[in-house]
Amino acid sequence: MDIRPIGVFDSGLGGLTAVRVLRRILPEEDLIYFGDTARVPYGGRSRETLLKYARQDLSFLRSFDLKAVLVACGTISTTSLGMLQGENELPIVGVVEPTCRRALAVTKNRRVGMIATLASVRSGAYEAALRRLNPDVEVLCQPCPLFVPLVENGRFRPGDTVIETVAREYLTPVLEWGADTLILGCTHYPLLEEVISAVCGPGVTLVSAGEESAFELKRLLTAQGVRAPADRKGEAEFFVSDRAEDFEGMASLFLQEDIHHRARRIDIDQY
Ligand code: DGL
Repeated sequence: MDIRPIGVFDSGLGGLTAVRVLRRILPEEDLIYFGDTARVPYGGRSRETLLKYARQDLSFLRSFDLKAVLVACGTISTTSLGMLQGENELPIVGVVEPTCRRALAVTKNRRVGMIATLASVRSGAYEAALRRLNPDVEVLCQPCPLFVPLVENGRFRPGDTVIETVAREYLTPVLEWGADTLILGCTHYPLLEEVISAVCGPGVTLVSAGEESAFELKRLLTAQGVRAPADRKGEAEFFVSDRAEDFEGMASLFLQEDIHHRARRIDIDQY
């Protein structure tokens, strides 16, 4: 038994797709969330910059006494996870492996599409993990650089012609190629699930990086015997690096939980 909190971080709102699942499957656990809203989006940045940001984000989270960390950011998971794991003694879970395992379990025609940020696609990490797990799989990776800025600006709802047009443009090549499974390799993308599903149609199964990594974290905590007692009610605390009000509005909507006046702003440059 271990009641220390779990740290979760992302560049902004995207990691909340993991938090939403964690609250459901591990309701007894305390969570500390950090969204680097002052520097979002991460997706077009260089490896060096991403590693610097990732170290700072983790260093802030580690100012709390954590038992584990979920890197709920595809971009950091694909570019910096190994370094973070090597530099820190606590368990750190990323999104790539669990998501790929799930995609391979659901694909029938072994054609897996993967959409993510530019940095994640450039890293080749999803492709490499899929091929390592099943050398017969075919993979098509498509960067979607406009998705994150649109989501962070609240443009994720069905009926919004801007996001629908952008989604059609990004997804058409993957659909024409014949994917039956689509990895949402960036944790922001499940916020676009309705829009993406409408474009893809019922023949394509969506696999969300945020969700799968939350299940992986649960497995890890259980295996290590560090779950919190089942009869307690966990709390979530939220920190951001820019205007807390903006984050609270969108996050409340998304988590279906009122977090107004519960997010705090920190200066990430101090870490
Ligand atoms: N949500 C993050 C990811 O999963 C970061 C997106 C971004 O900031 O560009 O890749």
